[in-house]
Amino acid sequence: MERPRTVSGMRPTGPLHLGHYFGVLKNYVALQHTEDAFFFVADWHALTSDYADPSRVRENINEMVKDWVAAGLDPAQCVIFRQSSVKEHAELSLLLSMITPVSWLERNPTYKEQQQQITNKDLGNAGFLCYPVLMAADILMYRPHGVPVGEDQLPHMELTREIARRFNYLYGETTFPEPEAMLTPAAKCPGLDGRKMSKSYNNGIFLRDTMADVEPKVKTMFTDKNRLRKSDPGNPDVCNLFPYHVLLASKEEQDEIREGCTHATMGCVECKQRFLKHIAEFLGPLQERRRALTDAAVQDILADGNERARAFAQTTMDMVRQRMGL
Ligand code: TRP
Repeated sequence: MERPRTVSGMRPTGPLHLGHYFGVLKNYVALQHTEDAFFFVADWHALTSDYADPSRVRENINEMVKDWVAAGLDPAQCVIFRQSSVKEHAELSLLLSMITPVSWLERNPTYKEQQQQITNKDLGNAGFLCYPVLMAADILMYRPHGVPVGEDQLPHMELTREIARRFNYLYGETTFPEPEAMLTPAAKCPGLDGRKMSKSYNNGIFLRDTMADVEPKVKTMFTDKNRLRKSDPGNPDVCNLFPYHVLLASKEEQDEIREGCTHATMGCVECKQRFLKHIAEFLGPLQERRRALTDAAVQDILADGNERARAFAQTTMDMVRQRMGL
């Protein structure tokens, strides 16, 4: 029996943190059991902005695959591959660029925002403008019903749907189903300082952090800024730590902590200790899996995944070429 199909990718821009895990990766891990799932390292996408210094990209590719497998992705349950190893993505991207108006790309909110916010790199290159066309190719190649992504990717998903619609209109209604974004149900995982968790804000807990890395980060983090002493009642709803209990503690323990905080019977020190225990329990098995993974094993996973992805991609490209008269 055929299972529904899904695909998603991440740019290898650095170590993955809890924000990535609870935002998207956890979703990947669940989907591999219910769908025919393709997950890839979007190394070409990393180059759209890091083209001037690509030295880190190769290392980040291996490390990201390790983070994925450590988090529970199983190469026997899903296809793990590298975008630049499946050249069909480039061909489809080129063909889709023929039917994509430049105005669609220029009005993309993510494009405009990043052009303004990222000032240490020149993002006036054509590759960056065409980022969503390549992403549409990555997705449509596998003709999935849905794509697990974070909320920040919704404008790109909308463009992908528009490109699919236009292709179908021009060349045949049955080519590409319009894929849905599959968001993780509101997982709130702020950074340690309350802003969005991000490597560049230096406010993250990384999947590869040891407890020696984690402890000082947690010790110095703010909780509820208005709670100065244990005898002051606190408010979990404005606390930077409490969202982590929501992610990692049982419902009963969350209630107990909320009660202790609001009634001033549990202090922030104990609350942090409980968090450290949970995070140790969470990271422990994950890092054990990571330690067992050699670089050679990662190469084997990618070699096998590349081949399986390519085989699927070729069936799509046969159809696309034929419909476009090639
Ligand atoms: N744009 C995505 C990100 O920044 C990465 C990506 C590239 C992607 N191609 C994709 C995600 C295809 C989903 C499907 O995270």
